[in-house]
Amino acid sequence: MKLGREHFSSDFAAVLAMAGSAIGLGNIWRFPYMTGQNGGAAFILIYIVCVFFLALPIFFAESVIGRTTQSNTFGAIRKIAPGSRLKWLGLLTVITPLVILSYYSVVGGWSVEYLFVSICSGFDEDVSSFFNEFTSSGVGPLACHTVFLLLTAFIVLEGVKSGIEKFNKVSIPVLFVLMLVIVAYSVTLPGSGPGISYMIRPDFSQITPRTFAYAMGQGFFSLSLGVGTVLTYSSYMGGRSGIVRAGIWTAVFDLTFAIIAGFAIMPAVFAAGIEPGAGPGLIFETLPYIFVKMGSGSAIISRAVAVLFFLTIVVAALTSSISMYEVGVAYLTEEKKMSRKKAVIVIFAFTWVLGAVCSVFSGAFSFCDSLTSNFLMTFGALLFVYLAGWKMDKSLVRKELYPAYSFVRYVAPPAIIAIFVTNFII
Ligand code: TRP
Repeated sequence: MKLGREHFSSDFAAVLAMAGSAIGLGNIWRFPYMTGQNGGAAFILIYIVCVFFLALPIFFAESVIGRTTQSNTFGAIRKIAPGSRLKWLGLLTVITPLVILSYYSVVGGWSVEYLFVSICSGFDEDVSSFFNEFTSSGVGPLACHTVFLLLTAFIVLEGVKSGIEKFNKVSIPVLFVLMLVIVAYSVTLPGSGPGISYMIRPDFSQITPRTFAYAMGQGFFSLSLGVGTVLTYSSYMGGRSGIVRAGIWTAVFDLTFAIIAGFAIMPAVFAAGIEPGAGPGLIFETLPYIFVKMGSGSAIISRAVAVLFFLTIVVAALTSSISMYEVGVAYLTEEKKMSRKKAVIVIFAFTWVLGAVCSVFSGAFSFCDSLTSNFLMTFGALLFVYLAGWKMDKSLVRKELYPAYSFVRYVAPPAIIAIFVTNFII
């Protein structure tokens, strides 16, 4: 058995793990759609500004807490504010990622099913009714949720270095390559032109104060902030690691992947003559339909691209789900002195049951989703920013975060409140 805490083998490995947590459905469906609705390239410019000046400071706050305390979320808060009641809020930071993981695993399970179908038989024209029948069939989605959660558990069980680090080191390059292959397919489809201009035509007339709020919310979601995953992964960084540099690199990876995903998806959507829609519907109903429709000319290629696409979704979802799982495992092994194996089993039991409830009752699914995205995530972010900006040793944090310190202290809190408020008006 290993003594002490495990660490990533380099800062670059930590960046890849954090990029893995960040890259997910937020990049694949949410970003392309928001770009198109909010002024194309003009939105991308504003998004870049928001990510670097408003979202990254929140990332730095989580990161500096994790790296300096070398603790799980609960332990970190106890170390920074010993004896205070904030400790109990620490428990919430353990529960939030596990609630997200529960319903995230249900969606991960759908992607496993879609990967399976695209390999075995391909889709027929009526993908929407396939989706509705499948998700309401009870046993199928439950089995897929179980498979997805088991995959996540096996990776986490292997540990920080030989599980999480290794999986991300392989997956992140693979994800980029897969997405680029899909771009090549997509932009060469006849009729893809308007989809390309949907992404690049800057329409400044669409820019309003609201655009900034959307861009900020998207950056917040995409960088997986407020959930304690950045904190936990940063706690596996060595004492001399540069927090600001690692954060900037993570944001660059996340942003690049989002832009590539936009060029993979929108040209295909337009080539098929479909209105780009928001939400999971785009991935589970619209896109498979496109693969069917485009398949008339070159069935084999479309089928192969469908397989690659759903493989991308499954892998992107796994690199995120392991980060949430690890928050719970770090807590149980360090605070409750459990073995890693026992911790993995306990987290599995909790998230499997909650996920099963979400899988069967769509009301439970939406409840968990809106509870976490509208309240718990913004609340968690506010807590981390308060601790890093106002509670920790000032000279230490200033030194670590130079030149971003005042952003953490003064800019991040109002930015988070703005995100919280706009969540309600969107
Ligand atoms: N960033 C993820 C995406 O873009 C979604 C997400 C939000 C997330 N919060 C998270 C992933 C916490 C892992 C942990 O899809």
